Amino acid sequence: MDQTMTQASDKEASVADKLQYMPGFGNDFETETLPGALPQGQNSPQKCNYGLYAEQLSGSPFTAPRGTNERSWLYRIRPSVRHTRRFSNASCPLWKSAPCLDDHSLPLGQLRWGPVPTPDEKLTFLEGVRTMTTAGDALTQTGMAAHVYVFNDDMVDDYLFNADGELLIVPQVGAIRVFTEMGIMDVEPLEIVLIPRGMMFKVLCKGDEKVWRGYICENYGAKFTLPDRGPIGANCLANPRDFKTPVAAFEDKETPCRVHVKWCGKFYVTEIGHSPLDVVAWHGNYAPFKYDLRTFSPVGAILFDHPDPSIFTVLTAPTESAGTANVDFVIFPPRWLVAEHTFRPPWYHRNIMSEFMGLIHGQYDAKEEGFAPGGISLHNMMLPHGPDASGFEKASNAELKPVKLDHTMAFMFETRYPQQVTKYAAELETLQDNYLECWDGLERRFDGTPGIK
Ligand SMILES: [Fe+2]
Repeated sequence: MDQTMTQASDKEASVADKLQYMPGFGNDFETETLPGALPQGQNSPQKCNYGLYAEQLSGSPFTAPRGTNERSWLYRIRPSVRHTRRFSNASCPLWKSAPCLDDHSLPLGQLRWGPVPTPDEKLTFLEGVRTMTTAGDALTQTGMAAHVYVFNDDMVDDYLFNADGELLIVPQVGAIRVFTEMGIMDVEPLEIVLIPRGMMFKVLCKGDEKVWRGYICENYGAKFTLPDRGPIGANCLANPRDFKTPVAAFEDKETPCRVHVKWCGKFYVTEIGHSPLDVVAWHGNYAPFKYDLRTFSPVGAILFDHPDPSIFTVLTAPTESAGTANVDFVIFPPRWLVAEHTFRPPWYHRNIMSEFMGLIHGQYDAKEEGFAPGGISLHNMMLPHGPDASGFEKASNAELKPVKLDHTMAFMFETRYPQQVTKYAAELETLQDNYLECWDGLERRFDGTPGIK
C-alpha cells in the first residue's frame, strides 16, 4: 500500500510514475504512505504514530442507515482547523450556483452549443470553470449545476474544497492529475473522476495539450451511487470493481498556499503556510474515485425497439422519490445495434426530466451533424427533441443488419429539476442559432391513406 510521498519542489518526479488504486465501489478502504501510520484496532489513539493528528471526515450524517453511512478517518500532519484561517470574500464570476435566475434574455428553447473557446490567458482549473446551467437549490441540497471547464495551467499553491456538492468531472480534451487529500488520480478522456463534497484538492495538467477541456456535474443532492440493476441481475452496466480509489499520498510543503472554498454558492479564500494535502494515511468509505467509461458493459435491445436511455446509467444520485433522480449520469457508449423492424436511433421525446448532453468524442447517433465533440445540447423539461431530419431519413431507410456503433462516447446529466441557462451560456459565441432548423425537414407524411410512407 505504500505510496511515495510527494515534495513540493519536485512535484512530478517524486510521485510514483504509475499511480496505485484500490478497486471497488463504496468499499471500506485502508491505505498508508508510511508503515504503521494507520492505527490498528481503533480510530482515535491517545497519540498517533509519527505525531499525526486523527480526524474524521463525515460524508453522511452520523446516524444515516448503514447502507448510506459514509465517513473516513484521516491521519494527517496538521488537523484541518489549521488549513483554514480567517476567510476573505473571493469571486469566481463564471462559476454559478442554483438558484441562478433571470440574468439574461435568451428565451426558452432547445439549445446547442459548440465547444467553449480556448482561452488566450493562463487559467487554472479553478479559474476555468464556466457554468452552463443550474437546477434546484444548492442551499437546500437539491439539484445540480452543469459546468464546462477550460484551463491551461496547474493549481500549484491553490487548493479548493466545495461544500456545496460533489464534483463529477468528465475530461474531454487532455488528461488531468487530481491531487486530493486522500490520494492522486490521473484521469484521461473516456474516464471520469468524482471528488466528494468537502474534499480538498487541486487539478494539474498532464501531457502537453494547449488546453484542457471537459464537463463537470456539481451534484448538490444525495451522493452518486450505482443504480439498481433490477432484472438485469448481478452483472453488467458499471461493475463495482472498475471503480478505482487512490492510495494515500501527501505533499510535505511549508510554503504559502491559498485554500479556496465554495460554500452556499459563494467563494472564499484563506491563506496558510503549508499544503493542506497532508494526509499520510486514511481508512474509510468516504473517498474519491475514478472510473473508465470503456469498462461499462452495455445491455440493450436484442430483438426490437429502442429502450429508454436509463439502461446506460453509470451513476445515479437518488431522491426520496423512488426512481426520480436528483441527477443521473448516463453514457452512450460504443455498442451493437441489432434490433429488427425498429427505428434504431433515440425516439422523439418530451420529458419531465431535463437533459444536458455532452460529447466526449465521435458522433452521437441521433444527430448527423452539428453536435461536435466538446459541444453541449440542452433539452429542458417538457421540450421536444429527437433525431434531426437527415438522421430520421437515414434510419428510416437503413438496412437493419447488425451495425456496430463505434468510436463514440456521449453522455447526459439528466435531472428532475428544470435547468436554468446562465448568462455565460446564453451569450456564449458558440451557441448555435440555427439548432432548431435540424428538424425543419421533418415534413408531414400523413395523407389519410394506409400504408408505409
Ligand atoms: Fe430525451
